[in-house]
Amino acid sequence: MSETIGIVGIGVMGKNIALNFSDNDINVVVFNKSKNKISDLIHEGSKKNISGFTNLDEFVKNIESPRNILLMVPSGEATNSVAEELLDLLDHDDILIDGGNSFYKDSLELGNKCKKKKIRFVGMGVSGGETGARNGPALMLGTDDSIPENLLSMIKSISAKSNYGDCVGIYKGYGTGHFIKMLHNGIEYAEMQILAESYSVLKSSNLSNVEISNFFKSLKEKNQSSYLIEISSEIIKKKANNEYLIDNIKPVANNKGTGKLTVETSLEYNFPLPSIYDAFNARVESHFQKIWPKVTHSKNLNIDLNKLENTIYFARLSTLIQGILFIEHFSNKESLEIQISEVLQNWLSGCIIRSDLLKEIREIYDEFSTNTSIVEIEEIQNQLEEKLDDIKTTINESVKSQVPLPVIFSSYNWYINSSNNFNPSSLIQAQRDFFGAHMVQLLNEDEFIHLDWV
Ligand code: 6PG
Repeated sequence: MSETIGIVGIGVMGKNIALNFSDNDINVVVFNKSKNKISDLIHEGSKKNISGFTNLDEFVKNIESPRNILLMVPSGEATNSVAEELLDLLDHDDILIDGGNSFYKDSLELGNKCKKKKIRFVGMGVSGGETGARNGPALMLGTDDSIPENLLSMIKSISAKSNYGDCVGIYKGYGTGHFIKMLHNGIEYAEMQILAESYSVLKSSNLSNVEISNFFKSLKEKNQSSYLIEISSEIIKKKANNEYLIDNIKPVANNKGTGKLTVETSLEYNFPLPSIYDAFNARVESHFQKIWPKVTHSKNLNIDLNKLENTIYFARLSTLIQGILFIEHFSNKESLEIQISEVLQNWLSGCIIRSDLLKEIREIYDEFSTNTSIVEIEEIQNQLEEKLDDIKTTINESVKSQVPLPVIFSSYNWYINSSNNFNPSSLIQAQRDFFGAHMVQLLNEDEFIHLDWV
């Protein structure tokens, strides 16, 4: 018997994931208020196994229980309101899957609401954009309920594949799938900013667009490429009417908030994510350019391309480690037993941050037990140490030429701060105790005491 999935919302992501299910011989029943959108989708499907309704009640009634209903609507209010309506229409043991870019806390809340109605819930992060949804996304599922085998095989049938298997992660907790997706997006912001900073270094070194594009392209043969590096190479050399498109795009970066939520959550957990913070901040700062009467100019830079290559590697690895450490911390705090090797596998293909680096780090994990922290793996620290001199050179050259590298600098500072034998925060504690009697701990002591400073 062929399986059926109900999909609410056929915007860019919903439409493409519907076609993906249809291509995999899964009957697709969609709900959308627009009759035209439904008929366009039915015509676009090649397997004639798509149907649709503009009435939510009819949509539900035309799917046999236990139903699998996938929400593909904008996160926040849109998801909440359609979920509320559905909860009154679904039966016990039906499953509601939220495939939007929802904030993990909203998924936790929605999951608990479903639980009260004896309806199963999965918060599912979907990564890979339009192409991913159509041909194979990375799927990050969080639930406290059992996922029936038939639903799991449907989800695996549409997902991206890697040499470790399906890029499908299943995590304990209604919000955990969207939490992992949120960290994916935070790392995505930092990766994009690292490439923007490298572009800035190459422009200041007077490389042409074609030479810059070729530099990014060259990383592929050195197994240091990624989806974002590949598209950046294409973007920088793309011409229209004999002009480079990139040269005519306003240098102001917007965002839908996923990186901001990553930063806010790290602050809530008092956990350092400097590279992701600085990547988000760089987007915000891009809206505050040339605020002074005098415009300053970067001076010519003479970058060694091999050193820049190692700088990019260092900054990306530092960012990934920061993100993985936060996932470890969150997992320990919330008792979720998240396996980092599963997260890495989840991101090996289909998602926006897919890369040779993720493959390299996932392979290293084969040698270690599942509860090993990433900072216990000496080989990973050695990778950073080997490239440390090159990132220092790039930073030195960029400072001399006044080329700002916020995330490259943050990635370097984070590693030094987290490995160095000296930290100046004793002065911070002393200052706080001097003016506010906030007390200090002496070395090798747990007790807090107020010292006599006068
Ligand atoms: C993905 C992307 C995607 C992202 C949007 C908006 O995994 O497919 O991360 O979900 O959220 O492209 O990104 P911004 O936050 O930069 O607007």
